[in-house]
Amino acid sequence: MPDAQDAGYQALYEAWRADPEGYWAAAARGIDWEVPPERIFDAGQGPYGRWFPDARLNICHNALDRHVAEGRGAQAALIWDSPVTGGQARLSYAELLDRTARLAGALASRGVGRGDRVVLYMPMVPEAVVAMLACARLGAVHSVVFGGFAAAELAARIADAEPRAVIAASCGIEPGRLVKYKPLLDAALAMSPHRPACCLILRREAWPGALEPGRDEDLLEAMAAAAPHPCVSVAATDPLYILYTSGTTGKPKGVLRDCGGYAVALHNSMAMLYGLKAGDVSWTASDVGWVVGHSYIVYGPLLAGCTSVVYEGKPVGTPDAGAFWRVCAEHGVKVLFTAPTALRAIKKEDPEGRLLGRHDLSRLEALFLAGERCDPDTAVWAARLLGRPVIDHWWQTETGWCITGNFRGAGLFPMRPGSGGKPAPGYTLVSLDEAGQPVAPGQIGTLALRLPLPPGCAPSLYRADARFREAYLDAFPGHYNTSDAGMLDEDGYVWVMSRTDDIINVAGHRLSTGAIEEVLASHPDVAECAVVGARDALKGQVPLGLVVLKSGATRAEAEVAAELIALVRERIGPVAAFREARVVERLPKTRSGKILRATLRKLADGEDVAVPPTIDDPLILEEIGAVLRRP
Ligand code: COA
Ligand code: AMP
Repeated sequence: MPDAQDAGYQALYEAWRADPEGYWAAAARGIDWEVPPERIFDAGQGPYGRWFPDARLNICHNALDRHVAEGRGAQAALIWDSPVTGGQARLSYAELLDRTARLAGALASRGVGRGDRVVLYMPMVPEAVVAMLACARLGAVHSVVFGGFAAAELAARIADAEPRAVIAASCGIEPGRLVKYKPLLDAALAMSPHRPACCLILRREAWPGALEPGRDEDLLEAMAAAAPHPCVSVAATDPLYILYTSGTTGKPKGVLRDCGGYAVALHNSMAMLYGLKAGDVSWTASDVGWVVGHSYIVYGPLLAGCTSVVYEGKPVGTPDAGAFWRVCAEHGVKVLFTAPTALRAIKKEDPEGRLLGRHDLSRLEALFLAGERCDPDTAVWAARLLGRPVIDHWWQTETGWCITGNFRGAGLFPMRPGSGGKPAPGYTLVSLDEAGQPVAPGQIGTLALRLPLPPGCAPSLYRADARFREAYLDAFPGHYNTSDAGMLDEDGYVWVMSRTDDIINVAGHRLSTGAIEEVLASHPDVAECAVVGARDALKGQVPLGLVVLKSGATRAEAEVAAELIALVRERIGPVAAFREARVVERLPKTRSGKILRATLRKLADGEDVAVPPTIDDPLILEEIGAVLRRP
């Protein structure tokens, strides 16, 4: 039933539905094009079509030069707030432009040009933003690798992207621990068959590291010596970045982003979704290594002329659970965007909001959440404490911006805790059964998007159109398969409940259980294994490994478990948060030999498990249940 309270939303969504190309043509007018689009969409290009196929622009021009030319040069573009180092900095648009143009010059003089890839391995420092924008300025394609990944993961990305240059920091700073990035980079380069021509290293005070002669150079020195480089004109369909994300196999998917569609979608979303305009302060407490960081720490806020906060710290422990509120108050944040896991961490330490009460949050207007479903308790807790709208919105790396949400620019409709809101203009969302037929309202199915995807969404995977089709388009012809299960209710609210594949969501980070299984299976004592996501009060899910040892393996369980934990940390990285491996006698399988992972997950969560009819031996479940109940 249409809800009178969502009239603004209905009008917004209908405006798009009545004339999708007209809607995006109007949104495109917010961008400064070198050649404006005459054609809005070409269904004949790429796996499902391409947006703005005849247009040309530079997204860095739109993020920086344009604002300086329009008189925003003195306004802060970035505020860096780093409780882990005690540092703070403000970079005006003019300063950010100068640094970016210089780094672009340094890269160009080292042979980096349009279409070349550059891998970035950086913590939350302004130079990470500068590096991304410098690539964009040249038409080069950046690929940021999250700092919590290990050398082998970095190596896999370097091997796939074949970068001409790598830009890395010497170290990152985690609470109580220095993460030395440089040795990880050295190890990755030793593993990778591809060698970049040069590595530019940001030598941080906490641990500058040593440079390898002939390959490494000091980033800041290279920038200081370089001449500023102008923006290079690129096609709207040129790639802006590759962002690797977990697929269903160990090999990460290189999600591709174009320049024009992304610029239009993000610029449009800043007012429509977040209710932000030029001069406003926006803070996305995520990491530049994730899609949320790409879109709403870097490109979205800068395209809109906002001030973006770059935060190098945690929600708790840097120094306390009041850190987020301190940053909001100190920098006048208007909209905060974070992951539910961060809120749960704060709630655990400061359930009554005592620390929150010490800060002036009068300028904060809304809190947006994404990365995982926000559990209703946490959403209600945050809304009560803040007295502001708390908006869960559903995303994927592939989409680049939200699929569903609540739209401040159109006037908010009432929130329903646990729901991700309603589809954004641009998306036709359906919930399908296995045969591809729509399920009734309120029934859970696979959430799918009718093609074409809107601007901003991945046009394909990097050098892998066939994999894109197979992973997303083949299951339901004419649709993009989100691999999320959920439902649309009678009032059009969307409820995203779980993944339909082997992806798990650990503290807002997307991980493949298949990739962790590959690591466990490589241990000499492991005969077979299964990894499932077990429910966790803080992180949402954590990976749990169940392993069957090879016959004749006599070593103690604790010893093998410790080795497996160390192996996952070494191969995938600390971000996997793999802390629990248990030895079992055998794994439950169907008669055709498929491991019953969904059943194992229920067992891990202590749920009642009905013995599946396809199982070969029901006794196994009792055995495993007993192993899992052990402290
Ligand atoms: N570089 C290197 N290591 C990193 C890292 C980075 N950028 N980010 C995290 N890690 C490490 C952590 O130090 C930790 O290592 P440890 O095993 O030695 O303790 C490990 O990876 C797991 O980190 P994390 O999942 O962050 O757990 P945590 O216990 O340190 O913190 C939270 C818990 C809830 C505070 C934290 O997960 C958090 O802030 N999450 C927000 C997630 C987020 O923003 N997601 C983005 C999606 S929008
Ligand atoms: P990532 O690609 O890392 O952003 O992870 C995307 C996945 O995270 C989605 O497919 C969902 O499974 C989950 N996810 C992200 N945001 C939400 C949300 N607001 N509600 C429910 N699930 C979400």
